[in-house]
Amino acid sequence: MNILVIGATGTIGKEIYHSLKKQYKEVYAAHRKSTSFPVDITDSQSIKNLFEKLPKLDIVINAAGTATWKHFSDLTEEDYYIGIKSKLMGQVNLVRIAQDYLNNNGAITLTTGILAEHYESKATALSLVNGAIHSFVQSASNELKNNIRLNVVAPGAIAGDFPENQKFAGYYPVDIQKVIEVYKKTIETNSTGQILKIYE
Ligand SMILES: NC(=O)c1ccc[n+]([C@@H]2O[C@H](COP(=O)([O-])OP(=O)(O)OC[C@H]3O[C@@H](n4cnc5c(N)ncnc54)[C@H](OP(=O)(O)O)[C@@H]3O)[C@@H](O)[C@H]2O)c1
Repeated sequence: MNILVIGATGTIGKEIYHSLKKQYKEVYAAHRKSTSFPVDITDSQSIKNLFEKLPKLDIVINAAGTATWKHFSDLTEEDYYIGIKSKLMGQVNLVRIAQDYLNNNGAITLTTGILAEHYESKATALSLVNGAIHSFVQSASNELKNNIRLNVVAPGAIAGDFPENQKFAGYYPVDIQKVIEVYKKTIETNSTGQILKIYE
C-alpha cells in the first residue's frame, strides 16, 4: 500500500507519518520544506509535480493548511483569502488532482477541526474554511472517480500544542494518539463522506 502524508512534520502530520511508517512499508512524507517530496498545497502545479514524482498511491492524508487568527473586527478581506487559498482551496485542489493519480478504491483524508462548529475567540477565518470543507466532503465524496473514498478528520485542540487543563472552543484538548487512530480508521474501513469529530 502506497501512502502519502502531506504536512508530515507538523503537530498532527508527524504523528500520523511515524505511526503509519511502523505499520506500512511505503509511506511518503511531503511538506513545503521537504528536500525529498516538497509540495505547497496552495499551488496546483506543485501538487501535480508531487504526484508525478511518486508511484501510484492508495492513500493520501492531508494535515497541512492554515488560516488567519484575528478578531472578527480586525479581519480584512485579504486575511480571509489566506485561509481560502490554503486550508480550503489547498485541500479542494488536492482532492481534485489526487483523483487522477490514485489507484482504484483509494482514499483521501482531509483535516479541519473543532472550529467548524464551536466558537473560539479570533477563529472566525478558521471556522469559515473548516465548515466549507465539511460541506465539500459530503458532496464531492459521492462523485469521486474509481471508487475513491473521501473523509475529513475534525480534531479538537491537540493536547501539548494547547494547555491540557484549559478548554479550547468549549472542549478540553484531545490526546494525539486518539486522533491518529481516527485517521487510521479512514484508511482501514470503507467509510466515505464522513466528518470524523474528535472532541468530547
Ligand atoms: N494543532 C492543533 O491543535 C490542531 C487541532 C485541530 C485541527 N488542526 C488543523 O490540523 C492541520 C495541521 O495542524 P498542525 O498544528 O499539525 O500544523 P503545523 O504543526 O503548523 O504543521 C503544518 C505542517 O504542514 C506543512 N505545511 C504548511 N503549509 C503547507 C502548505 N501550504 N503546503 C504543504 N505543506 C504545508 C508544514 O511543513 P512546511 O512548513 O515545511 O510546509 C508542516 O509539516 C491544520 O489545518 C490545523 O488547523 C490543528
